[in-house]
Amino acid sequence: MDSFLIEGGVPLRGDVIIGGSKNAVLPILAAALLTKDPCTIRRVPDLSDVRFMLEILKSLGAETRFEDGTVTIRAAKVKGFGDYELIRKMRGSICILGPLLARFGQARVSLPGGCVIGTRPIDLHLKGLAALKTKIKIENGYIDARVRRLTGSTVFLGGRAGPTVLGTANVMMAASLAKGITVIESAACEPEVSDLAQCLVSMGARIHGIGSPTLTITGVEELHGTDYEVIPDRIEACTFICAAAATRGDVIIHGSRPEHFAAVLDKLIEAGVRIERKAGTLRVTRPGRLKPTDITTMPYAGFPTDVQAQFMALISLAPGTSVITERIFESRFMHVAELMRMGADVAIEGPNAIVKGGRGLSAAPVMASDLRASAALVIGGLAARGKTQVHRIYHLDRGYERMEEKLRGLGARISRVAGE
Ligand code: UD1
Repeated sequence: MDSFLIEGGVPLRGDVIIGGSKNAVLPILAAALLTKDPCTIRRVPDLSDVRFMLEILKSLGAETRFEDGTVTIRAAKVKGFGDYELIRKMRGSICILGPLLARFGQARVSLPGGCVIGTRPIDLHLKGLAALKTKIKIENGYIDARVRRLTGSTVFLGGRAGPTVLGTANVMMAASLAKGITVIESAACEPEVSDLAQCLVSMGARIHGIGSPTLTITGVEELHGTDYEVIPDRIEACTFICAAAATRGDVIIHGSRPEHFAAVLDKLIEAGVRIERKAGTLRVTRPGRLKPTDITTMPYAGFPTDVQAQFMALISLAPGTSVITERIFESRFMHVAELMRMGADVAIEGPNAIVKGGRGLSAAPVMASDLRASAALVIGGLAARGKTQVHRIYHLDRGYERMEEKLRGLGARISRVAGE
């Protein structure tokens, strides 16, 4: 298993270009199953999760090609059952359920297990699909779903922690080919969900209320092919901004959509980071000391849970006490123990992490536990004095394209150590 070796303490300087959004592209690739026509998807990041999804689509019989950030998929002859082992490995693969049901009237997908950031239930996905007249059985770790004709209906998809991103995606995809009108209430409003909706519209779907909590989908008989460009990854942009601020660098972020992460920018400014917007770019500098800042993760347009760990790494450098409250996933503090190995002072009390910052971080060998936790450890390593080794960075490869190359382009001393 590869690791990163980071020699910290170097301020990041220069320009970085943000790639396509991982969380938008996964359901968009699955949406290609909804048509026999070829679909061309652009600005696709080269990530292990994307490669997994393409393998899954291939195992279902689709033809796929991935070249220079562009994927073409032709799902002319596909079957309802794929490679379960592959499907089991990637949580994002749950979003093939809706398209398979819409196209074949049946789907068998392995039940996603829990993961380190908490139990990952799919009751809302199933509730939504059942409302469209799907019969669902859970057997031996599999979801067995069948439907004679998907039929539109009104369904409320809000759960204990708010709306569900992939649940909304699944039901929206199924509803695009259902008979009649489907209304999703308490739909997720994340930009990635809107991006999927826009992609479906480009394929001939009829969806109203995109970006709002009420989506109205009028089913059509058929969808056609598309040529669609995915939105930039807001989480990648926020990660580079946190890294720039943590190292007191001077970085220009290109190709991002700052309106997609306004809540993060607001908190960064409160923490003393300077953000200058100029001609589609963001310049990130930090003129003085960081100030302690509290955040609470929330569904969009609140502070995203996917930036919580990176923000914690940054704010642990601020003298004073910051409170980080995680409201979306119950155990998403796996990075805390590792940040503490680097000298951070963090106490967890239920959904709150109390960060007493200001002593600086020092290098240590640390272990990545999930995707965004890994990014937090890399930020910590870049800011810390000395050599930090971040183990198990395969988590990072799931969601960041060429991260070490991009960081090296900003002057970071970071290298990949193979097979440790
Ligand atoms: C997506 C993102 C993930 C992000 C998360 C929240 C992808 C591939 N992943 O995951 O990076 O952290 O949104 O923004 O896009 N829940 C239920 N029942 C369900 C589904 C979810 O109770 O059927 C709960 C979850 O446990 C969690 C909350 O709802 O507490 C939000 O989860 P959800 O939005 O579904 O996350 P994902 O779509 O899996």
